[in-house]
Amino acid sequence: MRNFFKRLIYDAKKYALLHILEDRDFEELAKQEIAAKHKDEELLRRFEQLTRIADVMLPEYRFKWPQVDWWSDAWFNEYARRFDEDKSHNIDRRWMVHQLLRLTGRLDGDTAECGLYSGSTSWLICHYNQAQGCNRTHFGFDSFSGLSEPGEADGDHWQQGFLSYPVEKVERNLAQFESLVLKQGWIPERFDDPDVVDRQFSFVHIDVDLYQPTSDSIRFFYPRMQEGGVIVCDDYGSNICPGATRAIDEYMQNCPEKMIVMSGGGGFIIKGLEVSG
Ligand SMILES: C[S@@+](CC[C@H](N)C(=O)[O-])C[C@H]1O[C@@H](n2cnc3c(N)ncnc32)[C@H](O)[C@@H]1O
Repeated sequence: MRNFFKRLIYDAKKYALLHILEDRDFEELAKQEIAAKHKDEELLRRFEQLTRIADVMLPEYRFKWPQVDWWSDAWFNEYARRFDEDKSHNIDRRWMVHQLLRLTGRLDGDTAECGLYSGSTSWLICHYNQAQGCNRTHFGFDSFSGLSEPGEADGDHWQQGFLSYPVEKVERNLAQFESLVLKQGWIPERFDDPDVVDRQFSFVHIDVDLYQPTSDSIRFFYPRMQEGGVIVCDDYGSNICPGATRAIDEYMQNCPEKMIVMSGGGGFIIKGLEVSG
């Protein structure tokens, strides 16, 4: 009842305000408002139907409200379509990389990705570096022959050779960026290259799915991060990547930073920012 009166007062105020406008404007605004209301109601009606179906088919699945501005971000959607990812299940994590990069704009230090697949996350990083005028080189480390052999810590989801993507195609996907160096080889082989080993980093994306290369990556990059630099581990907290989560937790055990787990998957740390356990 209280809500009903609140709504009534709100509508009365709004229409009083609208009456002050000319008749023509009022009509146009009213039409727009009715169309928007119907659109919203229709969206919610369909969404509720979908949620009910999912309750039967996949009861543990949690739907999220669909009314979020970033879903209609034109630039981001164009980027996602470039990698055929606009409807992909990875899209939340891509958005978070796009956001987390913004924490690092003023930092010195290069950027890196361990595990590129088609290069879609590296594209975001390189684009950010270029658009912000950051004088950074982006290093991409990958076998370009897919995953290495999973170990005991990795469960049974993965197989050697999964997610192989040819280096020539990655080069093509990232051809517009000049300050990019791709390092082909099994992690950690190329970390010791003379043009890498003494670098400092501001943003690093680790996405190799397995225990050993995740462990090698965090061990190499953490000490080389600038204060305030961000390390994202895409696989952290995913129950199909138990080895990646374990590798990060083992290494971070005695570090003041702890992984912040993201709701859409993955986690990140900010170097030098202490986090409670
Ligand atoms: C999940 S994909 C990466 C997805 C990518 N970050 C993106 O944004 O689309 C995993 C990648 O890790 C690479 N990889 C896995 N194990 C590796 C290892 N031991 N050494 C080098 N690359 C590895 C695979 O070749 C594959 O490209």
